[in-house]
Order: sequence, then structure tokens, then C-alpha cells
Amino acid sequence: MNRLLLSWPEPVVRVQSLSENGIRTVPERYIKPINDRPDLKPGSDEHVDIPFVDLRNLFGKDRALHDDTLRRISSACKDWGFFQAVNHGVSDELMKRTSDAWREFFDSPLEVKQLYANSPSTYEGYGSRLGVEKGAKLDWCDYFFLNYLPVTVRNQSKWPAQPTSCRELVEDYGAQVTKLCERLLKAMSISLELKEDYLQNAIGGDEVGACLRVNFYPKCPQPELTLGLSSHSDPGGITVLLPDHDVAGLQVLNNGKWITVKPVPNAFIINVGDQIQVLSNAIYKSVEHRVIVNSEKDRVSLAFFYNPKSDIPIQPAEELVNEDQPALYNPMTYDEYRLYIRMNGPCGKKQIESLKANI
Ligand code: OGA
Ligand code: NI
Repeated sequence: MNRLLLSWPEPVVRVQSLSENGIRTVPERYIKPINDRPDLKPGSDEHVDIPFVDLRNLFGKDRALHDDTLRRISSACKDWGFFQAVNHGVSDELMKRTSDAWREFFDSPLEVKQLYANSPSTYEGYGSRLGVEKGAKLDWCDYFFLNYLPVTVRNQSKWPAQPTSCRELVEDYGAQVTKLCERLLKAMSISLELKEDYLQNAIGGDEVGACLRVNFYPKCPQPELTLGLSSHSDPGGITVLLPDHDVAGLQVLNNGKWITVKPVPNAFIINVGDQIQVLSNAIYKSVEHRVIVNSEKDRVSLAFFYNPKSDIPIQPAEELVNEDQPALYNPMTYDEYRLYIRMNGPCGKKQIESLKANI
């Protein structure tokens, strides 16, 4: 184990405690450089949003509607790397109950949450920073991170015991979202003109990894100075985000502009991760995104990451490589890839750029 990953470089401060103690100004550690600060002036919002896809007809009987759904997914993955999806097969009630249970966890006393305090070696548990760089600027967020797949690394005793429903809800929620991820990978494979099980097999078949990060973004007295989550692309395969349906916060970079996503009721926000960008030889894009905070309301989101098995090399699909489109990336296992982020924290698209083959 890398020595740096054994413990945090500085004492951990819970952002929620700062917020609840009524702090009036944001401490220096959370103040972002001017160019990274969000523009929160009224009217600065772009009047566009990420694509919207109704999944009702995906793999349904009507061929034309099925094909149309595939086309929508495909163009969203090419042009935006993001889309909102409804009729995704996960029960609305389960989504709500799971998100409510996590809100209850974050509302519980600090001593209770501290029982789950995490370390940078696995990140599992209750945390308040990503990356171990001493003196780094921090994000205005606490989180709970847990492993869901493979089953061999699932350890329910590390998940919150309170509220009592939490473990069972996470178990059921993970199972339903996993099914959705399988369907999405199939849809993406077909629309890349690959065999329908190509992407699933390329990331490990039935030995894939999956984890859940529940983000808690406390109210912030000076939201114009900081970010809930700095700009990053997701390192894994695909991400299924259950946003807070009452409070917006996610911003996606599109044509150099930050677009604030307006969550559609009962929808998931789906995005392409770096590994699908690599496998598709950059036909599908893993796009930078970040989270802004506000002074009025806390925000809770559940990010479910569907990732490659950790020890298999991931590289562009041979079928998508030819003389005109040479392989853009060198092979790398997800274990190697993820280490970079565990050390450095969120850093835009720097990491996937570093995989670029010398062509
Ligand atoms: C993430 C993420 C967005 C959000 O956890 O990787 O991008 O809205 N979350 O919380
Ligand atoms: Ni993300």
C-alpha cells in the first residue's frame, strides 16, 4: 500500500458541521481560484439542458421506437456525454425511500456518522475529501462511499446501521440500478455497431465492479466562492445519478459553457465515464461536470458507478480502430487508473488525457 494512502494529510473537518454551526464566511481551504468559481448571477443560466431520453421502448416490441431510442442515446453520448432518463425500470418509490434514508443518515448526530469515518486506502465510509494532496483546496461536500459489486467486496457491516432500512434499501436499489446499467451498456454496444454484449464483456462480464457515493452538499454562506464538487469526469464505465429533485446543482460542460441541469421528476441522470470513452475510441465522450452549492438548502445525490473489473486491461474496441481512426488510448487496468484520482482528487480530464497514445 502506498504510504500516502494510509491516512488523510490533515485533520478532517465535516463540511456539514461548519454549515450547521452557522459559519458566515467560507474558510480559505474551500475558496476556489477565481477562474474555477461558478457564475451565480441571476440570468447567467444558459437556456439549454442535457438531452432527455424516454427508455420505455428500449428493447420493446416496436422496432421503430426501439431504434429511435437507441439513436437518442447514441447522440446524447456523442454530443453531451450526459442525458436524463425516465421509464428506466427502477421503482420511483425505491428511489425516494433510498434517498430519504440517506438524508436521515446525514441528519443523525456527528458521533454516529463518525463511526464510519473513512481513510484514503479504500475510501469506504463517511468522508469529506477526495485526494491526499496536503494543502489542497477542498470541496463543499461530505459523502458516504460504499462498494456494491463484486459481491466479494460488499461488506454491509460498513454501511450505516441507522436508519434501520438503509442496508436493505441500498441492496435493492443497487440490484435495480445494476439491471439498468446492463441494459444501457447493451444499448450503447448496439449503437456503436458492436455485438450487444461487447461493452459488458469488455469491462468484466459478470465480474464488474460497482460502488455508490452518496453526496451531501450542505448549505453554504458564500456559494459564489466555492464548489460542491470540482470539475471532473467520472473515471469508470457509466454513472447513474439520482439527483436531488428539489435542489439543482449539477453543471455539465458543453461547448465551453457550464449548463445547469434541471432535474426531471423521477429521472436519473446518466453519464459516460472515462472507460467507455476509451472502449469506444472516443466516439462516446466522458464529459467534465461539477456541482454548485447554494445558501438556502442542503442537497443530497446518489451516484452509482458501474465500473470495469479492476485487473483487466481496458483499450479501444478493435472494431472501432482503423487507419483513419487509430487507437487513441493505451491499455490500462482500472486499478491503475483509479489510483491517480485517489491520490490527486478531481482534476478535470487530465487523467484520461494522460492515457493518449503517441500518434
Ligand atoms: C459524482 C458527481 C454529481 C452530483 O459524484 O461524481 O458528479 O450532482 N455527482 O452530485
Ligand atoms: Ni461525477
